[in-house]
Amino acid sequence: MARLIDQIEPLKQAALADLKAAPDLAALEQAKGRWIGTQGQFTALMKQLGTLPKEEKPAAGKAINAAKAELEGALAQRRSELELKASLPQEPTDFTLPGRRRVLGKLHPLTQVTEDIVRSFRKIGFVVADGPEVEDEYHCFDALNTPADHPARDTQDTFYADMPPNAPRPPLSTSNRWLLRTHTSSVQIRVMEKQPPPVRIIVPGRCYRRDNADATHSPTFHQIEGLYVDKGVTVGDLKGTVEFVFKEVLGEDVKIRFRPHYFSYTEPSYEIDFANALTRKMGKDWLEIAGCGMVHPQVFENVGYDPEVWTGWAFGFGIERIAMLRYGINDIRLFYENDVRFLRQF
Ligand code: DAH
Repeated sequence: MARLIDQIEPLKQAALADLKAAPDLAALEQAKGRWIGTQGQFTALMKQLGTLPKEEKPAAGKAINAAKAELEGALAQRRSELELKASLPQEPTDFTLPGRRRVLGKLHPLTQVTEDIVRSFRKIGFVVADGPEVEDEYHCFDALNTPADHPARDTQDTFYADMPPNAPRPPLSTSNRWLLRTHTSSVQIRVMEKQPPPVRIIVPGRCYRRDNADATHSPTFHQIEGLYVDKGVTVGDLKGTVEFVFKEVLGEDVKIRFRPHYFSYTEPSYEIDFANALTRKMGKDWLEIAGCGMVHPQVFENVGYDPEVWTGWAFGFGIERIAMLRYGINDIRLFYENDVRFLRQF
């Protein structure tokens, strides 16, 4: 019988040929078993190493290890070739087939309207600000000149939660409660607390109220708030700004009017009505769409602005309302049902 060291090379060559010829991954695993598996021929050769005379062992051991490494390399290479082959399409590509259409998603109509309004305000120098939806009672009401016993709180009931004992509390707050904000007006306070005037912000965001859902109400809805503080700001600026944006978003034929109203954080206060072809189609001359006014001096006091120096206006309106008008949607709940048959249309 041939010496062990002479058997290595022929055995290796046979094993290499076998591994390289494997037509698929299963066959490759079988070939691996035939040679370097526990019952494999090459493994058997390695086991004989122990029977060799001492002086032959080092050379034979070295040769066997080198051959084994080569076999393992060949195994790995064939495996990756076969894996690649398995991942490729079996049939040749038919370039004459019609193309596959990719279904594009689109922005939710509320997002589209919000982005249009934001874009329009950006043109005239406003920046977007943001605030928490889980708000404290102080920022949502008290700082906006709406104390706990104020009747305006009735129309903006919401979901309250007690603050944990060590939660950070606004310094001027008498309340220990968090709430889901009922309007984006709370962000007026948060921004003014943080920065000195002038201020020119808009705040799109989600709001919550304790309302039962029907065609025009939803306990979750969206608003856009605007706040402009500078020296010598007037109602004329407010009206001009609102008109500019509404014409951009809803069309040139839009008319707006201001009607006296009451909000505790503005004085004087107005409701904004608007009219266009759509409202006339709905059989209405005017449709109320927003609240606004000149920022109340007490609000400035609450954030440390001097009301003798600074003046400003603010407004807030519902995004759903605008989207409904723009697209002729008659039920607010459609926005939240995520029915693609509805959403696809915008
Ligand atoms: N926060 C009011 C609401 O939710 C809307 C509003 C009215 C916002 C007057 C204002 C404002 O900034 O000045 O009904």
